[in-house]
Amino acid sequence: MTTLWSGRFDTAPDGAALEFGSSFRFDRRLFEDDVTGSVAWTRALAAAGVLSPDDARQIEQTLTDILARGRSDPGFVDGPDEDVHSFVERLLVERLGDAGRRLHTGRSRNEQVSLDLRLYLMRRSVSLQRGVAQAAAALAAQASSAGDALMPAFTHFRPAQPVLVAHFFLAHVAPLRRDYERLAAARAEADALPLGSGAVAGTSYPIDVEALARHLGFARVVANSIDASSDRDFAASFLYACAMTMVHLSRLAEDLIILCGDEHRFFELSDALSTGSSMMPQKKNPDPLELVRGKSGRAIGHLLALLTTMKGLPSGYNKDLQEDKQAVFDADDTLAACLAAVRAVVDGLTLNRDRTESAASGLLLATDVADYLVGRGLPFRRAHEIVGGLVRKLVAEGREFGSLSLDEWRAASTLFDADVAGRVTARMSVGAKRTPQSTSPRAVAAALGEVRQWLAGAAG
Ligand code: ARG
Repeated sequence: MTTLWSGRFDTAPDGAALEFGSSFRFDRRLFEDDVTGSVAWTRALAAAGVLSPDDARQIEQTLTDILARGRSDPGFVDGPDEDVHSFVERLLVERLGDAGRRLHTGRSRNEQVSLDLRLYLMRRSVSLQRGVAQAAAALAAQASSAGDALMPAFTHFRPAQPVLVAHFFLAHVAPLRRDYERLAAARAEADALPLGSGAVAGTSYPIDVEALARHLGFARVVANSIDASSDRDFAASFLYACAMTMVHLSRLAEDLIILCGDEHRFFELSDALSTGSSMMPQKKNPDPLELVRGKSGRAIGHLLALLTTMKGLPSGYNKDLQEDKQAVFDADDTLAACLAAVRAVVDGLTLNRDRTESAASGLLLATDVADYLVGRGLPFRRAHEIVGGLVRKLVAEGREFGSLSLDEWRAASTLFDADVAGRVTARMSVGAKRTPQSTSPRAVAAALGEVRQWLAGAAG
């Protein structure tokens, strides 16, 4: 196997060292982007008068054939080549001879690999955004079908206050919307043409890089050729967007694992998306959710790995940067698979309204009792103390607010009147909320409407 750089050396490269440095095993995933970039480069060279129209036509035709072969037969994209760029060039030279040997004029693999990865990430970010929107749509559908059902919200994982079940589902839509924007920002960062940077100093052929950028669908051209050859900020931003999204999916998974569990049974997982135990016949395990939670570690790890690779590099391309691709590809695959799994699990959830509503009342109405006293003019800190005393008594006696007689209420404070029993319910608590981000039914309906509007415009 000859490499793209064999002319410089007396001896053939050491097989093991070549294998160690080779990236074709994994960068073959950039095949389509690499050929697309080469077609554009062919045209740019022809427009600059570097390639004859005849050579350019032959090269473009051959590249188009190679692309079609690779698309219809993935096994075709294979060989002893060092990387995908070498593979494409070898095929071209095998088919065209010297015309094929002219394609790499004024170009370097350093900018090719940046170009390919940018094109790949620009495509994949949009596709992942669609996956995020679809997972959000499944959550919004659950919010919608939950209607006015109530459940407890938790702090410190202790029942805290009643909320609408819809509010809970929308609480998981909100971070996904931020992820959607983060992926859009990662895409925008990748959206700059590196070609024209050469190996590091630029190119000495009169390439119209603005036209080339437009041809390849880039919004702009990179600012500096030295920076361009080693810039992987766009890949790190993509990994950050993936890691953050995985953190959110993991937290949703954790909520559902607990709330679908035997202790809560707020929701029932679809049988089709659960697994059994080989030994314990009663088990219904939430494996897909556990895997989502578990895989979040990989996405976080890839971000950390790339940042660590980047941090000590001197200016210009360094081979260390070859490590960018496996991180990006695995984060991409992991997130895409987890988004699909979460969407399916959420789609398959059934609300157990009896369970959520009975868990939504009881002592978690204590804040509402205090608010009742505040309504009668008592300072909140005093009210908190009085209700705290009442809670202590109820806990000791194993009772709830609903069982208090008017005398007992009034023994705690004469500000309590007969209306207190009707005022201290989970439904009243939720209805009493006033702010737009709260769980008040009006606010939640408006929030759901706004989410639906966003979903209609998102890449769902
Ligand atoms: N396989 C290399 C990578 O992924 C391509 C760039 C090679 N450039 C070089 N000067 N060796 O980073």
